Amino acid sequence: MNARQTFFRLLLVLLFFVSPAAPLLKVGPGAGVARAASRTPARARRGMVASTDRTASRVGVDVMKRGGNAVDAAIAVAFALAVTYPAAGNLGGGGFMMIRLRDGRTTAIDYREMAPAAAHRDVYLDERGELKKGEGGSLVGYRASGVPGTVAGMELALKKYGSGKLSWAQLVEPARRLAAEGFPVSYGLARSLRANAKDLGLYPETKRIHLNGGRFYEEGQVWRQPELAATFTRMQRLGAREFYEGRTARLIADDMRAHGGLMTLEDLKGYVAKERVPVRTTYRGFEVISMPPPSSGGAVLIEMLNILEGFDLRNMGASASERYHAQTEAMRRAFADRAEYMGDADFVKVPVAGLIDKSYAERLRRGISMSRASTSAEVKAGRPAGAESEETTHFTVVDAEGNCVSNTYTLNDGYGSKVVMKGTGILMNDEMDDFAAKPGTPNMFGLIQGERNAVAPRKRPLSAMTPTFVLRKDGTLWFAVGSPGGPTIINTVLQVITNVIDFDMNIQQAVDAPRIHHQWLPDEIVYEPYGMSADTFRALESLGHRLTQRPRYMGDAHGIMIEEGTGVRLGASDSRNYGESAGY
Ligand code: DON
Repeated sequence: MNARQTFFRLLLVLLFFVSPAAPLLKVGPGAGVARAASRTPARARRGMVASTDRTASRVGVDVMKRGGNAVDAAIAVAFALAVTYPAAGNLGGGGFMMIRLRDGRTTAIDYREMAPAAAHRDVYLDERGELKKGEGGSLVGYRASGVPGTVAGMELALKKYGSGKLSWAQLVEPARRLAAEGFPVSYGLARSLRANAKDLGLYPETKRIHLNGGRFYEEGQVWRQPELAATFTRMQRLGAREFYEGRTARLIADDMRAHGGLMTLEDLKGYVAKERVPVRTTYRGFEVISMPPPSSGGAVLIEMLNILEGFDLRNMGASASERYHAQTEAMRRAFADRAEYMGDADFVKVPVAGLIDKSYAERLRRGISMSRASTSAEVKAGRPAGAESEETTHFTVVDAEGNCVSNTYTLNDGYGSKVVMKGTGILMNDEMDDFAAKPGTPNMFGLIQGERNAVAPRKRPLSAMTPTFVLRKDGTLWFAVGSPGGPTIINTVLQVITNVIDFDMNIQQAVDAPRIHHQWLPDEIVYEPYGMSADTFRALESLGHRLTQRPRYMGDAHGIMIEEGTGVRLGASDSRNYGESAGY
């Protein structure tokens, strides 16, 4: 190479490092598989919605354009998803909404389902003390549902934190219209409905509505849901209480009674959404704020972050076996605590303060060796368990003022209990399976849970949903994120946070990077398809870890980050799924 060529090469290298791409590309062990191709986040100056459904994201943007704030937008998005994403979007389920206002106030709305009054510790056991399967059990059919909280949660959020510029009826309207006029079925929805045809076909009303009477909906076909539209209309005219006391409530209670369900009109009347105080920690100086019980999400996330703070993850590298090892050991310990200590804190004592204490994490960290995997048997005794399904949904909203909502809600299993309440178009949840139906025996997610999470009348089942905020060191919002995935939710959020803080990923890269999961029992690391190199696998195996590849991807995270300096909202919808962020 002559001097002239050398000069131009150097110039090119220099130009590259001052180009806009430069901050995304850092040299060092942090670079690797995890930072391979990832689209750039969606950008918007004012408001942004990141959700799993394009139509719902646009509904939220529309609300903000009309003067609504992030809470108003979130309510409209939640109702819209009940129409366009019936696997998890819902009126018949529940969830958690974290709200952070521009002035820094943060709160958590708990609209988790409540057990009907007729439920009790052994309600899902047969005469021999074994778990009931099928109809009558905690997973499908009329007895699987907790009293839905979504409508009450949205009402509480609107009353206390809405902008006041848009009414309840106005926020319900986009969903009503989508249900009444119909919307073109997306490829993802058509596929999902078909994939669940066996269970959805068990109940005539569900089969008629969700499977087009057995003929299925094709991609692009317009799907109308007139009963659901009528339910929204009643809610618009008579307010949220209509769902719990009016005709909708009576239709639900009548259908439940006719089919041996547990839920009564009294249960519906008695449902209350509650405001909770979020749990907090700092991770390397950045404040992390998340959901308290009855979700285990925030406390387990914080316990893991506290443990990991003592490891130099940055120097290990994003997709390195060392990082996975340290992470797995943190996951193992925090999930063992979850099984033992967590439940609805309104009913049982949950030592949240102790679990999220940094000195407790330090004690746990001392038990971690970097040269050998612990076994879950030594961390705490338990029984191995089975596989997991994948439906819940998270969305994040940021408005022009900087208010933010991080909301995860669900029917539990995809399409919940698979039962549509006659005359309402409402698909019911199977959230009762999140209780320890038989303490010590794994639930649908293979999770072992203890007496603190046993079924009791009016109690809320323990959740793993983890809607979360992370702040910059000056106390302003940096990013908000959450995901579906049962117990994997907490680990997904953990990895997104450490991807950003330890590995300098932008929000889209952090969401897209491969993830692993360990939940104490079964004692195995699960990784995603294409998610781990062969030598990383072998390195972990040689430390004593057992590894299993998941049949599919893990989670469907949706986050928004505020760009430093410009304030631009960066929306990231998980590349694993069909979601799309929208902004203005
Ligand atoms: O509350 C919970 O933790 C579960 N009901 C969430 C279920 C879920 O995420 C299902 N799949 N993705």
